[in-house]
Amino acid sequence: MTKLSVNINKIATVRNARGGNMPDLIKAAKDIQNFGAEGITVHPRPDERHVRYKDVLDLRPIVYTEFNIEGYPTKKFIDLVLKAKPNQVTLVPDPPEAITSNAGWDTVNNLSFLQDVIGQFSEAGIRTSIFIDTNLENIQNAVKTNTDRIELYTEPYAAGYAKNKEAAIAPFIEAANLANKIGLKINAGHDLSLENLKFFNEKIPFLKEVSIGHALICDALYLGLEKTIQEYKNQLLKK
Ligand code: PXP
Repeated sequence: MTKLSVNINKIATVRNARGGNMPDLIKAAKDIQNFGAEGITVHPRPDERHVRYKDVLDLRPIVYTEFNIEGYPTKKFIDLVLKAKPNQVTLVPDPPEAITSNAGWDTVNNLSFLQDVIGQFSEAGIRTSIFIDTNLENIQNAVKTNTDRIELYTEPYAAGYAKNKEAAIAPFIEAANLANKIGLKINAGHDLSLENLKFFNEKIPFLKEVSIGHALICDALYLGLEKTIQEYKNQLLKK
């Protein structure tokens, strides 16, 4: 079964809006795991407008499922990840001012940079994943970075789903087949939702894990966290 990792950045965003500790990020992460999520994802950004660097260290001892830290590998980010020692680090090429991640890596032009950063994490025993779009050259070249996994950037799939889901999924199937052939394991994320997740999971072979934040937290406003997590897991049940 594909694992569900819940991105809890949005919970931190609500907390940060008032400066206090409501909602409590640590409690939310505990509850999310107890409600059945198989992982917790955080994405600390340099301005700390979502999850803060301290949050990551505070979360470390209570995350008993898979802990995934994603972000752009600045020196500060690399040091944080090496200190927190998550199960997985996902490298994202987002500039500091980006509202959210909006592109995958160009693995051709960033090859030696990625090799260096991935080498540091691998040496520390942390599984690596790189955020990537469906460009086949980028995927082919991702092998040379020595990453364990790729995370497919699913925003274009989500954007095209309502109009023509077969057309929207086609490049992702091709990308996933290539990745599998060359030995890369596959995660996916961005704009996945109760509307589009089931079809994606059914159509993408070898999918290991999805990380979902925005839509899941929005759904939780109506359904509550426990029911929402169950609903997302239901979408991932059957291949
Ligand atoms: N994967 C990566 C690399 C991301 O940056 C994000 C957003 O922070 C997600 C997945 C989750 O996207 P969404 O919040 O749209 O579910």
